[in-house]
Amino acid sequence: MAEQGFTPPTSEWYRPSADMVAQANVPDYETVYDSARQDLAAFWAERAETLDWYRKWDQVLDDSNKPFYKWFVGGKTNMALNALDRHVNTWRRNKLAIIWEGEDGEQISLSYWRLWQEVNKFANVLRSMGVAKGDRVTIYMGRVPEIAIAMLACAKIGAPHSVVYGGFSEQALASRIEDAQSKVLITCDGAWLRGKIVRLKDTVDEAVQRSPVVETVIVVKRTGHDIAMESGRDYWYHDLMALPIASTQAETEIMDAEDPLFILYTSGTTGKPKGVLHTHGGYQVYTSTTLEWAFDIKEEDRWWCAADPGWITGHSYIVYAPLILGATSIIYEGAPTYPYPDRWWKIVADYGVSILYTAPTAIRGLMRFGEAWPRRHDLSSLRLLGSVGEPINPEAWRWYHRVIGGERCPIIDTWWQTETGGFMITPLPSVGLKPGSATRPFPGIDVDIVDDDGVPVAANEDGNLVIKSPWPSMIRTVYGDDERFISQYWEKYRDQGWYLAGDTARRDEDGYLWVIGRNDDVLKVSGYRLGTAEVESGLVSHSAVAESAVIGIPDELRGNKIFAYCILVEGVDSSDALEAELKAHVRHEVGPIAVPAQIEFVDNLPKTRSGKIMRRVLKAQALGQPLGDLSTLED
Ligand code: PRX
Repeated sequence: MAEQGFTPPTSEWYRPSADMVAQANVPDYETVYDSARQDLAAFWAERAETLDWYRKWDQVLDDSNKPFYKWFVGGKTNMALNALDRHVNTWRRNKLAIIWEGEDGEQISLSYWRLWQEVNKFANVLRSMGVAKGDRVTIYMGRVPEIAIAMLACAKIGAPHSVVYGGFSEQALASRIEDAQSKVLITCDGAWLRGKIVRLKDTVDEAVQRSPVVETVIVVKRTGHDIAMESGRDYWYHDLMALPIASTQAETEIMDAEDPLFILYTSGTTGKPKGVLHTHGGYQVYTSTTLEWAFDIKEEDRWWCAADPGWITGHSYIVYAPLILGATSIIYEGAPTYPYPDRWWKIVADYGVSILYTAPTAIRGLMRFGEAWPRRHDLSSLRLLGSVGEPINPEAWRWYHRVIGGERCPIIDTWWQTETGGFMITPLPSVGLKPGSATRPFPGIDVDIVDDDGVPVAANEDGNLVIKSPWPSMIRTVYGDDERFISQYWEKYRDQGWYLAGDTARRDEDGYLWVIGRNDDVLKVSGYRLGTAEVESGLVSHSAVAESAVIGIPDELRGNKIFAYCILVEGVDSSDALEAELKAHVRHEVGPIAVPAQIEFVDNLPKTRSGKIMRRVLKAQALGQPLGDLSTLED
């Protein structure tokens, strides 16, 4: 059951201009795709050669213990070696690495040299606090330059980071701290959003109470409001960075290509989030190659990935890949519509952004305010646009292309996942586009659409999206849970050895891929990924709720909105006040993104005889569609 539905206009073509093709980093997709297909190992070895290594690999791919693939075996490297160290020995030391704008208008620019120094200083701080190679560090911050500094400092000293998105509640934060067993947590006093303060440190205090494994909290001062600082546990970042120990020279830890770089928690089909593990070697090779080729990054580009660093998009394409390529990456702290709906367009014009990468939900949100807002600004610096996170509906695609891109910028619609580390299905600038299709697989990626038995489906028919061969930035495991890694991604097509993405997709008569949506109990709401089980367990943790079921209903703006059904405990009556209370409870337990749009109180839920809730039936009912096969329904 796909979460989204639209009829793809499979015959509408947008061909790239001859100029775009001629100047592209990869002018001929087919040739590169074929060469990768002929010799995958040689293809990725050639890409890995573009990076610095302390020691080159002995073997490109070790597939002797599937699905625990290893890449660049024997290679020694560090993310910080390629993202920072190698640049400061060249002219790029004076190039801007990060341009940051606060929601309040404050601006900070960091050259590669300056960023390298700040990272070194913070690496020394972390080391002095006892953080060693292999220790997990949790990062829970707003969108400030220090989040990139913290991530890079962790990479530098070989301490895997676990960034938790600043919109998550203390319960979500606590369970992620617990799972990673982080002794050190880095946060901010608060974050600015829509002119208001999000009180991050208060959330941290509650989370640490629930997960006392944390011994040290480092706090970046951003909003300056009053917060509690616990003596012996909490330290101001600026105080630590002023200590003599925070020198600008720091050794980069020599890491094995397969050593963990980070854990990033994402929603799955159970209530417990999965810690997706990525490593230093293959992840560098894959993210930098995909960014360079799909978005055609050039030395003079100003790249703006408008995601949050707390999601995989931000990890791979705000922080790591742009820095590896020596690009200038823009970070904006706040809301796209603050103080007015032209904030983003003003940023594009002010900084001369040449490539903008965002999500369909943001495009639809800005589209609502009309063309006058973008028209007030000079957007002529833009040369490519990107989309990620959910299928882009053709109407939003055309608006983005026409109004923002002035009909000259290709829309790079990238399909990928937290687990894939980088773009998997995406056009390169030389590929013809169809609105709503992520087009073709990236070179080296073997995608197919198959039925439940693994038989490829016919053109324009829906099936399961699978990846048939390994790639360098693939998830290595679910942190601490190899079993779950296997059951989630590899069990279904175990005989064939294919990776199951969890998405429904189709391929049209031109070989173009159309991703329709999730086909498991994962929802995409405003591009955020949420497990129905997470919202459900948030609801049942309220004393009035006995049982609940959550579904996604298509929504014009958000892609999906959350509908919840609740059975109340004996003796509790439903009311509007209770509905409001439950929404507030979910906000507190899970986070604002998980709040249901509507809660319906019911006496029972449709279940299979084995007791599994049939969300499919609830959804069909809510949409007024036929209920389908009810043979497994209990009652
Ligand atoms: O359903 C697909 C959807 O987002 C899911 C992955 O979510 P997450 O791990 O949070 O990563 C999002 C950013 C990479 C996928 O299983 N998705 C992502 N990009 C697209 C998409 N669906 C359609 N088109 C896309 N371009």
